[in-house]
Amino acid sequence: MASDSSSSKCLAGFCPEFRSFATDAIHAGQEPEQWSSMAVVPPISLSTTFKQFSPGNHAGFEYSRSGNPTRNCLEKAVAALDGAQHCISLASGLAATMTIVHMLKAGDGILCMNDVYGGTNRYFKRIAAEIGYDVSFADFSKLDVLKAALKPNTKLLWIETPTNPTMKVLDIKACSEITHEYNKDIIVVVDNTFMSAYFQRPLALGADICMYSATKYMNGHSDVVMGLISVNHMGLYEKLKYLQNALGAVPSPFDCYLCNRGLKTLHLRMKQHFRNALAVAKFLEADPRVDKVIFPGLPSHPQYELMKRQCSGCPGMITFYIKGKLEHATSFLSNLKLFALAESLGGYESLAEHPAIMTHASVPEEQRRELGITDTLIRLSVGLEDEEDIIADLDQALGAAQKFTLVDAGKK
Ligand SMILES: Cc1ncc(COP(=O)(O)O)c(C=O)c1O
Repeated sequence: MASDSSSSKCLAGFCPEFRSFATDAIHAGQEPEQWSSMAVVPPISLSTTFKQFSPGNHAGFEYSRSGNPTRNCLEKAVAALDGAQHCISLASGLAATMTIVHMLKAGDGILCMNDVYGGTNRYFKRIAAEIGYDVSFADFSKLDVLKAALKPNTKLLWIETPTNPTMKVLDIKACSEITHEYNKDIIVVVDNTFMSAYFQRPLALGADICMYSATKYMNGHSDVVMGLISVNHMGLYEKLKYLQNALGAVPSPFDCYLCNRGLKTLHLRMKQHFRNALAVAKFLEADPRVDKVIFPGLPSHPQYELMKRQCSGCPGMITFYIKGKLEHATSFLSNLKLFALAESLGGYESLAEHPAIMTHASVPEEQRRELGITDTLIRLSVGLEDEEDIIADLDQALGAAQKFTLVDAGKK
């Protein structure tokens, strides 16, 4: 994003963009003066209720679903990192999605990118549509397709970029402009889970809402399930804050404490995820046992230039097609030793998974085929282990998958 890509802070043409990010991650909303104890590390405030001076006259907190001191610290830090005025936290990424959708009424239109996290797809298709929302999907990577898909009843546009798992990159600024030109009241939401606040700021690119499954990079330690929503617009914030309390899908104070702690190292983790992922992507791209690598930090990615314009780096997410068929993919995945074969992503540990059988099994087969989620597609979440160890593990598992080919061939 920054122009001087020769700076030593830049990697693969991407440069850190957001001023004082680390300082905000460590200090925003964390002032010791807010506690009578002057605690430097925000305490975990477990009390569900708060004493009032007289009826309705209190120190800012009444009941923990409506507001909690530990949750406040987290929300202030996230808002600062997103360049936002406000943030609310929810019990999961899907709880954040549900809370956003509850701002609409039955009959309102939801227009969603056709390649999104399987659970988001399931929620829109199987829950929201059945309740009576008018849900449709389109490929927003083609801006004329987006233009044609907007309808008079469209109230919400849902973008995920890069998409999961095929890593298509969408132009947030262009999508927001087209949508707001059509109707300035359409709420543009960007699921920023893959990028984290460190690499992408959707609100600065014209979106109205930035949401996360904080279960991933924002917490970053694979020990919290949580959702986050950041906004600038006061009206949106008031509606969402009301729904946070009225729907009640709030996170626990302990989870807020952990996520707040995770944020303190977000900048360090993301930089290392990028370095490791870039090395892995280059290794896989050069390997004859691999058909194709999709990593937005490689010049071979079709939206590499857009990615450099829109983001200040790439996370540890890599998708690749292994040569062969389903058995080669499963043999590769079963033979990994350092990588855990597991769903989820964005933690310090390396994970690998098979989208068609695992995370995206809830996406109908025909749609999976259209999106390129085939039997040989593998998704990696590259962690923070030593680069050489990560690559050595992939190398030996690719070797094991190839042995399967030889044994298989011998049988015929
Ligand atoms: C991009 C994306 N959005 C949303 C979600 C849902 O979040 P959660 O699992 O925290 O409910 C996920 C979960 O994997 C995800 O990957």
